[in-house]
Amino acid sequence: MAKAKLPSGPAKGAFFCSGCGTELMHWAGRCPECKEWDTVVAAPSESNRSYRSNRTYEARALSPEEQARPLADIPEPDIAARVRVPMPEVARVLGGALVPGSAVLVAGDPGVGKSTLLLELAEKLSAAGSRCLYASAEESAAQTRLRARRLGAASPGLLVLARSGLEDILAECRRTGPAVVVVDSIQMTWSPEYPGAAGSVGQVRQCAAALIREVKESGAALFLVGHVTKDGAIAGPRVLEHMVDTVLHFEPAGQGAYRQLRAVKNRFGPTDEVAFFEMTGTGLIEIPEPSALLLGERGEARPGAAIFPALGGSRVLLVEIQALAAPAAEGYAHRRAAGLDANRLHMLLAVLARRGGMQLAGCDVFANAAGGLEVPEPAADLPLAAAVASSLRERPLAAGLALAGEVGLGGELRAVPRAAERVREAARHGFRTIILPRASARGVAPAGDIQVIGAASLVEALDKALA
Ligand code: TYD
Ligand code: MG
Repeated sequence: MAKAKLPSGPAKGAFFCSGCGTELMHWAGRCPECKEWDTVVAAPSESNRSYRSNRTYEARALSPEEQARPLADIPEPDIAARVRVPMPEVARVLGGALVPGSAVLVAGDPGVGKSTLLLELAEKLSAAGSRCLYASAEESAAQTRLRARRLGAASPGLLVLARSGLEDILAECRRTGPAVVVVDSIQMTWSPEYPGAAGSVGQVRQCAAALIREVKESGAALFLVGHVTKDGAIAGPRVLEHMVDTVLHFEPAGQGAYRQLRAVKNRFGPTDEVAFFEMTGTGLIEIPEPSALLLGERGEARPGAAIFPALGGSRVLLVEIQALAAPAAEGYAHRRAAGLDANRLHMLLAVLARRGGMQLAGCDVFANAAGGLEVPEPAADLPLAAAVASSLRERPLAAGLALAGEVGLGGELRAVPRAAERVREAARHGFRTIILPRASARGVAPAGDIQVIGAASLVEALDKALA
């Protein structure tokens, strides 16, 4: 971090925030504008304004392509120019293929496997004929070579650059003209043009901006690796999310070596797709059938567990919804939800008490979507309510049962979207019965041997589920 000198006389703009650019008269430990710590630095003297050059640009006459023009006159980009992604699960999360000139941020905790994933991807991309530059700011070229050997990655065309200097990376991008550039990681990338140490908000932001500008001009697709810092923000305070086209989160899924990749922002595709991987001794392996994996950890039928066919983007995932209702130790009952909407849990407990006559007042209730999955759908209401009822009565749900349905405040069951797909996925994994809201059950064509039961209310559904 550049040490700032105290001002000899207050002058407007003697200091500025390297994060948000706010000009200050006095140095401050925390920027009053963006509330970031350690971002205020001395403004450059007139003789050294270079690092602010992208803020103060000179107006010039625009060429015809740059000038504003009618939408209809702008040629559509060539869709075929998209770079095919040779890892099908990664491609699905990205929205099919890589858009030239786009920037993708891959964020995750240190050690989760970001470098492994991107080296694998870079290797497969170059093996498929897309020129790929992997710029490792964290590891030496030899270390990257070792990792590649472990992954069995042997594409001779993959270009590896072990430099953390932004200017070196930009120069090599221009010299080698890759279709895909990976920068691992943006926190370790650094330029003397900007104030602050590598990883500071200003450096991260300016380096990312320079790389994004570069690929917008060259038409390459850019991957930036970002470590999630301890307060859960990417590169400090999520400073990059608005600058890139796509933000992917790479996280542990369930226990052990499973990982999930999901889009939280995507200008070119959906944001509800999830891809699953297993970290093995030879790198990450894509899991095309995650339902089997999610169900695999389930074991014997036990109280407090219900299977929910959840929508995960273009496909259905079978997720175990778990609940534990236990007498509260103290006066105050705890209600917690992981991967599920806590407000809906509270609402369902009220409906169960009022319409189902269940004694939940003195109970702690914990609810969880197994496998570390996020299940934000209202259709998870019925399996969640069934899991709570099952836990409270200490009786498992009927064997081979799946459930989906939105619960209204009157205890009525409301239709769920894409019911037929949910039934098909449950049937494919050997489930024998599925309980759906009556309105959804009516239109569903039979699939395999599964019996589809329609229920009008939560109480009716629970009667059938706990029978
Ligand atoms: P890494 O990709 O270095 O994580 P990140 O870049 O997100 O910090 O992966 C770190 C872990 O993955 C490390 O503990 C070792 C493990 N690993 C494997 O299990 N198998 C492998 O083939 C590789 C390369 C790493
Ligand atoms: Mg790494």
